[in-house]
Amino acid sequence: MSGLSGKRVLLIISGGIAAFKAAELIRLLRRAGCGVTCVLTDNGGQFVTPLTLQALSEAKVYTELFSLTDENEMGHIQLSRAADLLVVAPATANILAKMACGLADDLASTVLLATDKPVLVAPAMNVRMWLHAATRANMATLKGRGVAAIGPNEGAMACNEYGPGRMAEPAEILTAIETALLPSKKLAGRHVIVTSGPTHEPIDPVRYLANRSSGRQGHSIAAALAELGARVTLVSGPVSIPDPAGVTMRRVESAAQMLAACQAALPADAAVFAAAVADWRVANTSEGKIKKQPGTAAPSLELVPNPDILATIAASGPARPRLVVGFAAETDDLMANAQGKLRRKNADWIVANDVSTETGIMGGVENEIHLITAAGVEDWPRMEKQEVARRLAARIAEALSS
Ligand code: C5P
Repeated sequence: MSGLSGKRVLLIISGGIAAFKAAELIRLLRRAGCGVTCVLTDNGGQFVTPLTLQALSEAKVYTELFSLTDENEMGHIQLSRAADLLVVAPATANILAKMACGLADDLASTVLLATDKPVLVAPAMNVRMWLHAATRANMATLKGRGVAAIGPNEGAMACNEYGPGRMAEPAEILTAIETALLPSKKLAGRHVIVTSGPTHEPIDPVRYLANRSSGRQGHSIAAALAELGARVTLVSGPVSIPDPAGVTMRRVESAAQMLAACQAALPADAAVFAAAVADWRVANTSEGKIKKQPGTAAPSLELVPNPDILATIAASGPARPRLVVGFAAETDDLMANAQGKLRRKNADWIVANDVSTETGIMGGVENEIHLITAAGVEDWPRMEKQEVARRLAARIAEALSS
């Protein structure tokens, strides 16, 4: 089975004679099991018809930014969200210039400005346009922003000139798409411990103290680290979400068990403490179920502090992971509290987020974080927890490779 099976490409076709090669690219992608949705620019439509693209992609072709039917079916944000990769083939000098400048005056350029997905361009243009200082500068800008490029190839051109400017062949673009979608294994050989979910602190055999953590952020981080090739030990409190693929699960209930599982998993290159660990446990637990006795007072629970797992692991001497990442979920004085935690717990990074009820973050699918490192504070925009996880995993890979 191809690595592209089940992946989804948003193919943007801009106006160049090479647009006819997009048809072959769609055929190759479909044969590899890849879903393809096409966006056709006005100029692209001069070279290839929406009907051809629709027949080959077996999907609706999008052309207009302000088409009410298109916006009803799938808006420009949704088009990018639904894709794993955006491919611009052919990419004319004009669309490259628009991308470099951040223009958004049609559907294609708006999708390209609104996306947070990886982008691959296959430039195709006259040799002089390709060699023009403006196009050189635009390509440098785009590459600096992480946009991948394939081609152009050198050869005879439709305009009777010779040189670089021919769009890469569909088979070459297919290989570049595979490379772009293949997760790089930057964390191969590294071991990362991740804690996730709530802890349950027993009161008696049937009752416990808990919190609203879903485990979504911690589990997503474990999955993203594993995708980068890390060996991941995921120490999870009780959650109702599935285990991420490719990680070693250590299921625990209480904070004491979570600490023991983390210590047993050492050594590690990095540790990410995303669990919402209960601050207290019940000291006077009962071996039998506490009975309701008519006429007697309600039992009182005697609480004692739990061990701080993050602080304990960060203080474990030579066994301390090189990178210790803590979370600070706060409802008040977010930044001051988070910075205090970084120092007090001897963490290298703190991921701070506001979990006031109105943010909908605790238990929700989105998160808005501030990454606090020795170098300062980064405010990340609100995004899905999965995307936070991917970006955090990439940053961890960067930190461990320096
Ligand atoms: O002190 P607070 O609970 O806000 O600290 C949050 C950070 O510390 C999180 O990374 C959490 O996973 C970690 N923590 C821990 N053990 C505790 C309490 C918190 O590892 N007992």
